[in-house]
Amino acid sequence: MGGSKRIFSTVNDNAQEEEEEMAKRKKSVLDFYEMKKRGEKITFLTAYDFPTAQFAEEAGLDMLLVGDSLGMCVYGYPGTVPVTMDQMIYHADAVRRGAPNTFVVGDMPFMSYQSSLEKAVENAGRFLKECDCDAIKLEGGVRVTPQIKAIVDAGIVVMGHIGLTPQSSGQLGGHKAQGRTAESAKLLVEDALAVQEAGAHMLLLEAVPPEVGKYITETLEIPVLSIGAGPYCDGQLLIVSDAIGQFQAFTPKFVKKYCNVAEVVTTAMKEYVEEVKAGEFPKAEHCYTMLPGEEEKFLAIMKK
Ligand code: KIV
Repeated sequence: MGGSKRIFSTVNDNAQEEEEEMAKRKKSVLDFYEMKKRGEKITFLTAYDFPTAQFAEEAGLDMLLVGDSLGMCVYGYPGTVPVTMDQMIYHADAVRRGAPNTFVVGDMPFMSYQSSLEKAVENAGRFLKECDCDAIKLEGGVRVTPQIKAIVDAGIVVMGHIGLTPQSSGQLGGHKAQGRTAESAKLLVEDALAVQEAGAHMLLLEAVPPEVGKYITETLEIPVLSIGAGPYCDGQLLIVSDAIGQFQAFTPKFVKKYCNVAEVVTTAMKEYVEEVKAGEFPKAEHCYTMLPGEEEKFLAIMKK
């Protein structure tokens, strides 16, 4: 009895160790397919820098997006259009270093894939060659299927992105929810199927009603991620700067703020300003000391 108990506990220990090992191991696209099959939600967050990527990996995120939203969240641009490929590469490189065991998706910025298939493949390849990303994401449905096919044919994992597509928000009449009428929901389903048919491995749905998110998630074989597409998708994405209360300009309806970094940081900075002005910082514990007897010697030298 004692022996079998010991064996049983060893088997359990091994299973637990295996589970812990699995949790630490970088996931692949096959893991995301399995997660969709068994109904386990995929957790997805943007990250633009090394420390945030470290926090995200520590928190157990399944996937990180180095989004061109960094144009607004990091550079203070009014939108994503000005973001360049080089900026994306710098940030993706920092994120990869911060989260070496997390699946990282590089976001193709405006005009890095629209003008030719060669340019699309070359720029997608830069995310893998220069910063070890696991996949790329590009915006658009039916109209970018040639680019999706070409990038997939080059051996790269692709995530499609339909619904509200910020790079072409001018054509959509602004940052507006999509698929709110039966006719536009049907067009979204056509886009989703075209993206899957072109070989994309995952699809991101942005700002569409939950009913449409549910229909597309149940229709597609590939994992469908939501940012403002309701609870029925295979996983959820948030912009980290929204989720931690760092981005102040506006807050989309689909955002939940999990903390208020802007408030915490501003309060800390005000306290710092007050303490410096009042001569309360730095205190002795923040200062280096001279070695014993050196101050007297120093002052004597200076008198000469
Ligand atoms: O750049 C980004 O973070 C994105 C999200 C808005 C989906 O593409």
